[in-house]
Amino acid sequence: MAKPKITVVGSNMVDLITYVDRMPDRGETIVAPEFSMGFGGKGANQAVAAAVLGADVRMVTKVGDDVFGPNTRQNFESHGINVDFVDSVPGKSSGVAPIFVEPDSSNSILIIKGANEDLSPSDIDRAETMIGESDIVVMQLEISMETVYYTIDRCRELEVPVLLNPAPADPSLELEKIRTVSFFVPNESELKTLTGMAVDTVDEITAAARTLNEAGIQNVIVTIGERGALVATNGTTKLIPPVSVSSVDTTGAGDAFVGCFATYYVESGNVDLAIEKANRYAAMSTMKPGTQKSLVTREVFEKTTL
Ligand code: RIB
Repeated sequence: MAKPKITVVGSNMVDLITYVDRMPDRGETIVAPEFSMGFGGKGANQAVAAAVLGADVRMVTKVGDDVFGPNTRQNFESHGINVDFVDSVPGKSSGVAPIFVEPDSSNSILIIKGANEDLSPSDIDRAETMIGESDIVVMQLEISMETVYYTIDRCRELEVPVLLNPAPADPSLELEKIRTVSFFVPNESELKTLTGMAVDTVDEITAAARTLNEAGIQNVIVTIGERGALVATNGTTKLIPPVSVSSVDTTGAGDAFVGCFATYYVESGNVDLAIEKANRYAAMSTMKPGTQKSLVTREVFEKTTL
């Protein structure tokens, strides 16, 4: 079977992860038990997930001209990811993300976009041949909105399907400009930000996802953590059940879901199967600390029963 050709147009960050017993109050200093640094960024995490699952992945991103830039590039190469369009921006820092993980495995994340903000439509034009040869293009919202919209338009012209993960949530996202994407994959809080609707129950999530279908977005897949994932396609909805695991760090679980979904969807053409795999892969990623560090290879994934 040919490997799925996946191009990720998106972000990279260096994750500075502090494991805390509790978050400090304002003005308070407390001791945290552990710190770890690793490669992250939603785009990079999704690219690495797809690569370790066996896809042929290409990354379009920008790094800073600091110590993190060459290391990030090298990290992509170590996973066999094409770096022809991983460029360095003079005078800019790389993207970094201070992250705090609490004992219940939940996380709080700050992002400093740095060089990621400089990924521009002209970079998309330069990568056009590679994009045009892709089975799917995967994007998030840690780069400029102008570049997100431009890439979606170019992909439509090139007839390349797009998966957009609207993370982090941005209320300025114009649904009219993204409605041609093939898959729109928010989590429930992103869905709430984008629709302004309640998302506490599965019925409320269903209603909110349907409004996106009505706005012209064909396939909406809402990741709802411990409740699984809900897929809404032109008026029909289905809940794909979750996989229960003992989680230690949920950081990057959504990215694991997206990278895995893209890989299995391109391979099989079967949305339900790809969601089932992605639910399982995302759950597995929460069983180990770290973001990219918690992504297992296809071999391990396929032979692990949960
Ligand atoms: O989704 C998790 C990611 O969000 C982290 O790796 C961090 O870099 C932020 O982009």
